Amino acid sequence: MTETLDISITKTLNSRLEQTDFSNLPFGRTFANHMFVADYADGEWKNFQIVPYGDIVMSPAISAIHYGQSFFEGLKAYKHGDGKVSVFRPYMNAARFNKSAERLCMPDLPEDIFVQSIAALVDVDKDWIPAQANHSLYIRPFMFATDPYLGVQPSKTYKFMVITGPTGPYFSKPLRVKIETEYSRSTEGGFGYAKAAGNYGGAMLPSRKAVEQGYDQLIWTDSKEHLYMEELGAANVMFILDGKLVTPSTRDTILKGITRDTVLNLAREWGYEIEERRVSVAEILEGARNGKLTDAFGAGTAATIAPIGEIEHEGQLYTLIDPSQRVFSNKVLKTLDEIRYGVTPDPYGWNY
Ligand code: COI
Repeated sequence: MTETLDISITKTLNSRLEQTDFSNLPFGRTFANHMFVADYADGEWKNFQIVPYGDIVMSPAISAIHYGQSFFEGLKAYKHGDGKVSVFRPYMNAARFNKSAERLCMPDLPEDIFVQSIAALVDVDKDWIPAQANHSLYIRPFMFATDPYLGVQPSKTYKFMVITGPTGPYFSKPLRVKIETEYSRSTEGGFGYAKAAGNYGGAMLPSRKAVEQGYDQLIWTDSKEHLYMEELGAANVMFILDGKLVTPSTRDTILKGITRDTVLNLAREWGYEIEERRVSVAEILEGARNGKLTDAFGAGTAATIAPIGEIEHEGQLYTLIDPSQRVFSNKVLKTLDEIRYGVTPDPYGWNY
């Protein structure tokens, strides 16, 4: 870091910590006491503040609302047994934040500002980090356009904010997923690789239809032919097929996941053969039929390692091997947890 960020901190006089039920923390519903806010105007970031979490007042004409100049990140802070706190790989999120900003014609945020704002906010609200297994403080940084102007052009002013909240895992049971063969999440030349708000809004109708049909999530496929797998709902998708770790290679249409990268690193170190390539629906279903598919899971910050229990494709349901019997995903989750909660040393420098 070059220099320390000058952040004005106003603490709440009405902490909600005591009233919060830490034994019931579904994802995304509980927010910690404070939030970080910064403004972009005249070509620079300024007004770095930590203030009590609360509503914000904006013009109804802001271009984030009308034209979707808005994107976010997701990362987590963990409490270790000795009371230390770490954030997992925040510089990876900082780099991806700027990839999203670039694609949406929004300003770059220096990586050190991103990481320092998160560090300062997590420090102020460290008592909100749950201590129980599988729990953490979810951190949601985001940027949105604030010009009150209805012309379709990039805004000149923006806000960068960070909110946080204690959470358990996003999914509580093995997933029953449907392979999507009608709708698409993203296209070649589009912005599927960015964490644009619109990518998630556009996924809601197909996802709701899948839920109505009894599925938890969709596996998105390529928009041209729906023959190749891309992502699993709000996470990357990974398989052990014929003993190899197989996952769709990242490109325009696929988010470059940080948990995905972490899993690839561990698998490489454990000597697994890795194939990052186009992964066809046909080969995965064939693997489900002939027993060569021995693991299938979503990998994401919110999702962590989420086992896929069943896969549906064009009316046929495939039940995969019992998640408790899966060697790879159970080992990955255990290893990751031991590092993130400080049970074992972190030889990779992933804990910040
Ligand atoms: C995350 O894993 O942080 C995500 O972005 C998923 C979220 C949309 C629930």
